Amino acid sequence: MDVKLGRVVITGAAGKIGPTVREGLREEADHLVLVDTADIEPDGGAETAVNADIADRAALREAFSGADAIVHLAGIAEEGPLDDLLDANVRGSLNVLEAARQAGVERIVLFSSNRVTGNYPIHHHVFPDEPPRPDGFYGVSKVAEEALGQLYADTFGLQVVALRAGSFEQRPTETRHLATWLSPRDCVGFVRAALTAPNVNFVAAYAVSGNARRFWDLSVGDGDLGYRPVDDASAYAAEFPDDDPFWHGGPQGGDFAGPQALLPHLGE
Ligand SMILES: NC(=O)c1ccc[n+]([C@@H]2O[C@H](COP(=O)([O-])OP(=O)(O)OC[C@H]3O[C@@H](n4cnc5c(N)ncnc54)[C@H](O)[C@@H]3O)[C@@H](O)[C@H]2O)c1
Repeated sequence: MDVKLGRVVITGAAGKIGPTVREGLREEADHLVLVDTADIEPDGGAETAVNADIADRAALREAFSGADAIVHLAGIAEEGPLDDLLDANVRGSLNVLEAARQAGVERIVLFSSNRVTGNYPIHHHVFPDEPPRPDGFYGVSKVAEEALGQLYADTFGLQVVALRAGSFEQRPTETRHLATWLSPRDCVGFVRAALTAPNVNFVAAYAVSGNARRFWDLSVGDGDLGYRPVDDASAYAAEFPDDDPFWHGGPQGGDFAGPQALLPHLGE
C-alpha cells in the first residue's frame, strides 16, 4: 500500500512498542521524530531524535513543529501508585494534546489499553462504546487519557484515535494472551490505520490480533478502522493448558485485576 504519512512524531519511541512502530512506519513517513527521555540513535536524514520529557510542554511544542501526526506511546505502561500514573499518563497526555494543538498537528494516536475494560468478565464480548470498567489505577489513567482525547476532539477539532492495545508481545507467553495478544505486525497495521482512517473526530478502538478467543470487538461505531488483523494466538494454543483457571471465569484483566493487584498501590 502506497500511503504517505508525512512527518510523524513517536513519543516513547525507545520503549517496548516504539521500535516496532518506528520500523513499521519508516517507509511511509517522510520523516520520523523520536521523542523519549531515553537516548535514541536516529537513522541518518530520515529521523530526528529529541530527548524530552512529556512533562515539558514547551519542549513538546518544539518537537511537534511541522508534524502531520503524533503516535503517543510515552508513559507508564503498568500498574502503580495513582499519583505517578496521573503525572505520566494523564498530565503527560494533556501536554501532548495541548502541544499538538499549539503546533497545529491534526491527528493524534493515543496508546490506550485494553485495561480500561479489564473488569468485564471474560465471557462478555466488549464493544468499544460500552462504559469503562478499569481493572486498576493504570486502567483509570487510560480512561482519563481517552477522555482528554475526546475533550480535545470536541473542543478544538483535533482528530484523535485511542488505540486500546492488547498484550504486545513477539508471541503469546501466557494463557491470557490467547485472547489478548497483539502481534508486532498487527500493531503496525492498527497504527497505520489509525493514522490514515478518514473522517475521524474521536474514536476508541481495540487493537488486538485476530485471536479466535479474543473478547473485544474491532468495530468502531458502524464501521471499523479499516485494518483486519492477520495473526491469531490460536497457533500457540497447544503451549498453554486448556483447563487453566483463567478460562473458568473472572475478569478479562486476569491477574492484573482484583484486590491482590490493587492493594499494594493504595498507600496508607
Ligand atoms: N506493552 C503493552 O502490551 C501495552 C498494552 C497496552 C497499552 N500499552 C501502552 O502503549 C504505550 C507504550 O507501551 P510500552 O510497552 O512500549 O511501554 P514502555 O514502558 O516499554 O515504554 C515507554 C517509553 O516511554 C518513555 N517515557 C516514559 N515516561 C516518559 C516521559 N515522562 N517523557 C518521555 N518519555 C517517557 C520511556 O523511556 C519508554 O521508552 C504505553 O502508553 C502503554 O500504556 C502497552
